[in-house]
Amino acid sequence: MANIGILTGGGDCPGLNPVIRAVVRKGINYGFEIVGIKNGWKGLIENDFIPLSLDTVSGILPKGGTILGTSRTNPYKKEGDLEKAKQNYKALGLDALIVVGGEDTLGVAAKLIKDGIPNIVGVPKTIDNDLSCTDYTFGFDTALNTAMECIDKLHTTAESHHRIIVVEVMGRHAGWIAIEAGIAGGADVVLIPELPIDIEEVCSLIKKRHQRGKTFSIVVVAEGAQFKKGDLVLQEQKLDEFGHVRLGGIGDTLAQGIEKRTGYETRVSVLGHIQRGGTPTAFDRILGTRFGVKAVELVAAKKFARMAALVGNKIIDVPIEEAVKELKTVDKELYDIARVFFG
Ligand code: F6P
Repeated sequence: MANIGILTGGGDCPGLNPVIRAVVRKGINYGFEIVGIKNGWKGLIENDFIPLSLDTVSGILPKGGTILGTSRTNPYKKEGDLEKAKQNYKALGLDALIVVGGEDTLGVAAKLIKDGIPNIVGVPKTIDNDLSCTDYTFGFDTALNTAMECIDKLHTTAESHHRIIVVEVMGRHAGWIAIEAGIAGGADVVLIPELPIDIEEVCSLIKKRHQRGKTFSIVVVAEGAQFKKGDLVLQEQKLDEFGHVRLGGIGDTLAQGIEKRTGYETRVSVLGHIQRGGTPTAFDRILGTRFGVKAVELVAAKKFARMAALVGNKIIDVPIEEAVKELKTVDKELYDIARVFFG
């Protein structure tokens, strides 16, 4: 018998509820009590929790978002919060904590393991797919399919009206959504954070395409892509508790630059949080379920400081510390495949 806490932190994404459901179902099989900590690390600081039962997780498999709520709260940010989190962990009588999150949430987990809560198991989540040591994070596949469908829809207007449409997708440091949605949606240019944008090259690719008779183009850009001079296009300068600026706006700047240089009418569509919403794909439901089951198995085996990961088609476990050490960015090989279809 053990008392297990679970929290979901950082940006929400489709597949979180399948993880929670799997943790509860597998945990109950082991005879564990499962406690849901509300709103990520904020709930542990504020002692905000709900007991999870078969009833609470019934029917949540196809639901996007997270029934536990989430936040970008960092317990290392405000004096006293770390102590509160540790005290509440004790007061709740937890024997282990399952932390579902991306680089920030799992980065906190990696620190907490050394600072007083050693019994943590991680589950990798993010639509950005940028966590190391796992081929995929859940949430990515749903976001990718949403972005692809949007590109398909934008194609018709671009073609009918003879326009360039710039599609801005999410991706802070890694261009996985941009590159894969670009390949799947037949984009004519894809721009990612890993490679600086050369606006002259973008325009010459578009002009080349128009010279062979095309009267429209689709340009996909990741929100974190930067122009050659290195300036990010920011929505506002405010930083979150993990020191990240709020991105967004690169699409507009890019569209203006393209229209000015080519003379072709250029519009922009920012997909934003649409990519984080909706019902998870079958892939994300299954991946979330497999990760949730694995996380409970790791707790039962007392294998702490580990993260469930997908490598090939196998669910394995890796050190949380390794997974958050550096981000997994788009490799050149994949970019070169996308490039074949540029222009
Ligand atoms: O980390 C996932 C992500 O969707 C990023 O792609 C994006 O930059 C960020 O979250 C936006 O976060 P929020 O919606 O919390 O401002």
